[in-house]
Amino acid sequence: MKQVTSVAQLREAVAGLRGRTALVPTMGNLHEGHLTLVRRAREIADHVVVSIFVNPLQFDREQDLQAYPRTEEQDLDLLRSEGVELTFTPSTEAIYPHSMDVHTRVEVPGLSDIFCGESRPGHFVGVATIVCKLFNMVQPQAAVFGRKDFQQLLIIRRMVEDLAMPIEIAGVDTVREADGLAMSSRNNYLDPQQRKMAPALYHALQQTAEALRQGERHYAELEENATRLIAAAGMTPDYFSIRRASDLGTPAKSETGFVILGAAFLGMARLIDNLEVNL
Ligand code: PAF
Repeated sequence: MKQVTSVAQLREAVAGLRGRTALVPTMGNLHEGHLTLVRRAREIADHVVVSIFVNPLQFDREQDLQAYPRTEEQDLDLLRSEGVELTFTPSTEAIYPHSMDVHTRVEVPGLSDIFCGESRPGHFVGVATIVCKLFNMVQPQAAVFGRKDFQQLLIIRRMVEDLAMPIEIAGVDTVREADGLAMSSRNNYLDPQQRKMAPALYHALQQTAEALRQGERHYAELEENATRLIAAAGMTPDYFSIRRASDLGTPAKSETGFVILGAAFLGMARLIDNLEVNL
């Protein structure tokens, strides 16, 4: 596996690849969820490039950025065992040579301002900017993202469409622990007692999904019930909302494609999860 750290080395390495390339952008601290993205990338392309970069532009709190787990050697070993041929592990200076404050930004308005975007101002501008940069650097034909970050996936799809980028965006299903908790690097922040409480978010999503399948359409009531369930489990709810899956709009009573989105604070962690319901 070749590891490059500069944009010049990256360009040279990808120029030598023949056929279709898929990019898997990550912030490292890889777990089974990331490896599932890598495996999907392998299915849809001839070459897989994985980037590992903890992007400061998408963190709204310095403390959160500093605390983000960095496990590069372990990550590279995992990628090697998955047969990845090229990894890009740039420094912050390689990505933002003129400082972040004066860097050009990519913004997908509307979709970026709600839910996680409202709780973490500037977060999705940071995500869209780094993903756009990585696309320009690697010039992949495809890129793979997890459906766990459903809002992020929609924003990237919208950016690709709006900016006419010739890139297929593949969304991969959330990988869960045995008790239903969605895999996330942020689960590392949970102590053993919090770890036991954490699946309550998924249970609230499941309960709401079941109610939708049963024909219940009092969305506000369902959201309130779920929020109460999350709070009763000892978490601090951030948001819980039933939306149209295609664009996160408010669903009509006749809607058939839903996404239920939830986020909650637990100790040092802010957990997010979602369930799609197609009727
Ligand atoms: O989902 C993530 O890990 C990040 O937001 C991404 C897409 C790698 C951009 O930094």
